Amino acid sequence: MTAPSLRTSPEWKALAKHWASLRGTTLKALFDGDAQRGERLTAEGAGLYLDYSKNLITDETLRLLQRLARARGVFARRDAMFRGDKINETEKRAVLHVALRAPHGEVIRVDGQNVVPEVHEVLDRMAAFSDKVRSGEWRGHSGKPIRNVISIGIGGSDLGPVMAYEALKHYSRRDMTFRFVSNVDPTDFVEATRDLDAAETLFIICSKTFTTLETLTNAHAARDWCLQNLGGDEAAVAKHFVAVSTNAEEVEKFGIDTANMFGFWDWVGGRYSMDSAIGLSTMLAIGPEAFREMLAGFHAMDEHFRNTPAERNLPLLMGLLAVWYNDFFGAQTVAVLPYVQYLKRFPAYLQQLTMESNGKHVTLSGERAHYDTGPIYWGEPGTNGQHSFYQLIHQGTRLIPCDFIGFMHSLNPLGGQHDLLMANLIAQTEALAFGKTPAQVREEGTPEWLVPHRVCEGNRPTNTILAENLTPRSLGALVALYEHSVFTQGAVWHIDSFDQWGVELGKQLAKKVIPQLQDANEPKLEHDSSTNELIRRYRAARRSTG
Ligand code: F6P
Repeated sequence: MTAPSLRTSPEWKALAKHWASLRGTTLKALFDGDAQRGERLTAEGAGLYLDYSKNLITDETLRLLQRLARARGVFARRDAMFRGDKINETEKRAVLHVALRAPHGEVIRVDGQNVVPEVHEVLDRMAAFSDKVRSGEWRGHSGKPIRNVISIGIGGSDLGPVMAYEALKHYSRRDMTFRFVSNVDPTDFVEATRDLDAAETLFIICSKTFTTLETLTNAHAARDWCLQNLGGDEAAVAKHFVAVSTNAEEVEKFGIDTANMFGFWDWVGGRYSMDSAIGLSTMLAIGPEAFREMLAGFHAMDEHFRNTPAERNLPLLMGLLAVWYNDFFGAQTVAVLPYVQYLKRFPAYLQQLTMESNGKHVTLSGERAHYDTGPIYWGEPGTNGQHSFYQLIHQGTRLIPCDFIGFMHSLNPLGGQHDLLMANLIAQTEALAFGKTPAQVREEGTPEWLVPHRVCEGNRPTNTILAENLTPRSLGALVALYEHSVFTQGAVWHIDSFDQWGVELGKQLAKKVIPQLQDANEPKLEHDSSTNELIRRYRAARRSTG
């Protein structure tokens, strides 16, 4: 069925007209006109508080965006996802990361089969394994307990686990070392292992497909390293390697006993898999109980997204606001600014979640999308970013909507430092919204020639997301918030947020280039002149270093 064109739909046109009518409206005027705005335009769910009052919106904007969501079938698509329908149409798969955190007793069927018991079976196996490793019962080949865990994976099989480990470090086993290897650049593996004792090291090979070049290459490097350091006995592999994959056949081929494999399913997208067995490193770090707490946080946000009316629905609001800025204001990016050092890898994690999901130019019906889809997500923790790129957000020529994320309490209280951190978060949203007028600048005694340079126009929109504490639970809720915001955006745009065909071409071409770099004989190069020359130069350099 051909989807009605988004731009010509009455809902879109109404928003375009409304956007034009808002031109010249300032956040200051919106706040002056409604003393309660900062309390009214807020919502809470799953332990998170969202203040979206500092957005360039009115009640009418919200009404029209919700109307758009309805017309684009966002709610029907959401329900289809939760039901287990195959909404990943280009891969003909269900999209059921929500089943990964469904409690015992829930029923979610894929092809008639309830998948929830399988999910819990894997979770229980993970928990039993984690307990054994954490207690020292699981021994390496030479009888030593495991003290180091290296998770090898890339993309969705790495970014979530890295982010979660960093985010939840406070709750982790400090007497164990956790490292992550993703890049095919050998430096990644060498640096991760250089100071470790193989006898105390466990590798988790994470790959949904178990065919990914980078992961398999690093997994082989890990096996060689282990064997070299443990006397070359192949039997060591069983004690030092476990796998997380959907592909038992390839895991076996690699030499890992499938008894040491933790499975997941094709209905879990890589970038939506940090709460599946892909999160085994997280569970090893924080323990099974805390991992289940994290799942409970995810689930609480799932339920919120599923059941809360549109006007109070956090992911829906955030997703619609992203559409609003992306498509009507022409904003190309969204900055995500966590005011908590533990979330330093959160923006990197979100990059894959958002951009691999919604970086699509073709709609579900195979037509070119005549509107902008997925914005670029990026960011850094505050306050560091303030001393780096915030200048552009405050005074640049581009509109950059920002998400500020903060927690009421520090996990590492130190004097009044947390107050300083949060004061900065709050002050930034105020400065971005209301700026500084020429009159205010002059009042400070600024010479006239300097006035324009010091003016901040304001009207820079922000969301503020607050939670009490950074815990496994609040992290789960936060990740699910963004997952469902991404879903909302993709549903409005009628794109498949769950495939990633665009990454294939580069992988295919690299497979052709590899032998051309390594051939002892001069290969016949039939690329474009630039690619041919780059290959020749690399070959020459490679020859000269022997
Ligand atoms: O290159 C993109 C991608 O397919 C991601 O979608 C995925 O998360 C990553 O590669 C890793 O894939 P795998 O888990 O199969 O190794």
